[in-house]
Amino acid sequence: DRLPALLAAMPKAELHMHIEGSLEPEMIFALAARNGVALPYASVDELRRAYAFSDLQSFLDIYYQGASVLLKEEDFYDMAQAYLSRVAAENIVHAEIFFDPQTHTARGVSMETVIRGLSRACADARARHGISAALILCFLRHLSEEEAFETLEAALPFREHFIGVGLDSSEVGHPPSKFARVFARCRELGLHIVAHAGEEGPPDYIWQALDLLGAERIDHGVQAVHDAALMARLAAERVPLTVCPLSNQKLRVFPDLANHNLKSLLDAGLCATVNSDDPAYFGGYVNDNFRAVFAATGMTARHAWQLALNSFEASFAPAADQARWR
Ligand code: HPA
Ligand code: ZN
Repeated sequence: DRLPALLAAMPKAELHMHIEGSLEPEMIFALAARNGVALPYASVDELRRAYAFSDLQSFLDIYYQGASVLLKEEDFYDMAQAYLSRVAAENIVHAEIFFDPQTHTARGVSMETVIRGLSRACADARARHGISAALILCFLRHLSEEEAFETLEAALPFREHFIGVGLDSSEVGHPPSKFARVFARCRELGLHIVAHAGEEGPPDYIWQALDLLGAERIDHGVQAVHDAALMARLAAERVPLTVCPLSNQKLRVFPDLANHNLKSLLDAGLCATVNSDDPAYFGGYVNDNFRAVFAATGMTARHAWQLALNSFEASFAPAADQARWR
């Protein structure tokens, strides 16, 4: 079977990953030691054993705790540098990277520290690995819209370092409508717009992300299959869904990877893509996601080719770059 080798070798873009979710347990311990931060785990193994999730919230609690070791610009640089050099070796040629500034500013870390560290790693990765990387600032939806506005204000002095904004964290109970005003402001500023919707939340949240936020892509979006009119719209408009198979498996969005609906989404003509979400927490980087979902669902080389093409079509990369990758 030559499919795993093809999946690994094909050039592709990753469009849905949270940089804080690339913090490997070993790096959490190394940064904790470097920064004198106390961790509630005695060892890397004990921390790893805590990665037993039952839903999105059970993951988020551990993910925010892991991010508490990030204090200095160098920490953000090292984290992003580790991710980018790893995925360059997986034939990712373009990455659009989410970051959660509120997780850090709430602990007294400045916006400048966060963005300068991440941005410098992106610039160095282009020089070192030829990979293009861009940042997308995510608002935490469990916090208020007022706090999202404050976060946007704090980030605007660094406007040239990020290409867009997204919406993440606890979905159910925090619909896109809660953030309609701040996203309207972001659109006026010319920022790209994406939003997590339809991971655990209902199809209505996907409609809201499109119609109230102006989302150009939907992160996850797998619950769209429960709404035929929505599926028709997503297919007709080629609205990309950034799907994360191992994340969905670990957070029990599907009972098992064999039940994952990626193949149905592609066969319905949607622009679905494969992504890692939080690779250090969910058991793998993007090629692991491709390998696992293909093995579990019986997709073919034709699906692989479509997914790679979709990842470029769905990206915010300039047309000249996209032409080079295809
Ligand atoms: N969903 C919502 N918020 C997140 C996720 C996710 O999968 N990963 C990191 N923050
Ligand atoms: Zn995500």
